[in-house]
Amino acid sequence: MDIVHYSVLKEEVFSYLKPADEDRLMIDCTLGEGGHSELFLSRCPGLNLVGLDADGNIMAVARKRLEPFAGRVRFYNQWFNTFFKQYPLGDERPDLILFDLGISVFHYEKSGRGFSFLRDEPLDMRLDSELEISAADIVNEYPEAEIADLIYEFGEERYSRRFARAIVEQRKSGRIETTGQLSEIISKASPPDYRHGRIHPATRSFQALRIAVNGELARLDSVLANALRILKPGGRMGVITFHSLEDRRVKHFFRSMNKACICPPEQPICNCEGRRIVEIITKKPVIPTEEEIKLNAPSRSSKLRVVKKISDEEF
Ligand SMILES: C[S@@+](CC[C@H](N)C(=O)[O-])C[C@H]1O[C@@H](n2cnc3c(N)ncnc32)[C@H](O)[C@@H]1O
Repeated sequence: MDIVHYSVLKEEVFSYLKPADEDRLMIDCTLGEGGHSELFLSRCPGLNLVGLDADGNIMAVARKRLEPFAGRVRFYNQWFNTFFKQYPLGDERPDLILFDLGISVFHYEKSGRGFSFLRDEPLDMRLDSELEISAADIVNEYPEAEIADLIYEFGEERYSRRFARAIVEQRKSGRIETTGQLSEIISKASPPDYRHGRIHPATRSFQALRIAVNGELARLDSVLANALRILKPGGRMGVITFHSLEDRRVKHFFRSMNKACICPPEQPICNCEGRRIVEIITKKPVIPTEEEIKLNAPSRSSKLRVVKKISDEEF
């Protein structure tokens, strides 16, 4: 079996989420190739695990990898926000929930779906082929202003307008169908210092398109509260993020659940009946060691935040 993804912050995730005793249930919301799940299953013989992934192709890799733990693992090929909204496990509630957001090395290197500007592939970027809109649909059909906005918002790309203009100009002479075409359009539209800068000039635009195609931020916004509601009191939830757009959302959500009162500060008397739902376990986000970054450069932007659920009150 060919595993290409290097799971980030593995030991840190294990030490913050390790089950207190036997017979626990963990939901790995972003199973990927199953790296984190394999670690937990191999170290905790009493652990049962539910693995979710929107992408059936990568889930096939995880199924194979986790075969030694058959009987303790269930797989759901679903978006995590849909899973927690419909919650198919009834009264069975997890003690541990893990999110390791974004995509996997598998997607860049083996999916053939155009996640990487380093490969010339069809411009698709859908984690789930049933999604209606691909990256090619966005660049070929969206108005220029909308393309610029999404590159700015989801890629935090300062040249978003310039790149959107170049895309719209280029598509007048035929559809943009491949990552190679798109990356060339962006490179050509970049100022020289940006073209030869620290990161490839298309990095942020590709990230933006991927986030837009898969609705990543909206899914994150909608899943956090639902997952926390399902988590057992005393249980822990950990989230690994890879960029500030994700991390900001997770940080604010955890902080809001850690406050007893959520009335606006100008309101003199509390009427929200707010309850503290979580204790924040990682006061500062956990980041990888220099050693991990040396072994796996993409881990440098990862951050882990963990909370413990202390109340089952409604929120
Ligand atoms: C960073 S990888 C996870 C890697 C995994 N922890 C490991 O160690 O192998 C993220 C995975 O989550 C999946 N994913 C991303 N967003 C998702 C969502 N909203 N619902 C379900 N799966 C999602 C991706 O398809 C990808 O396989």
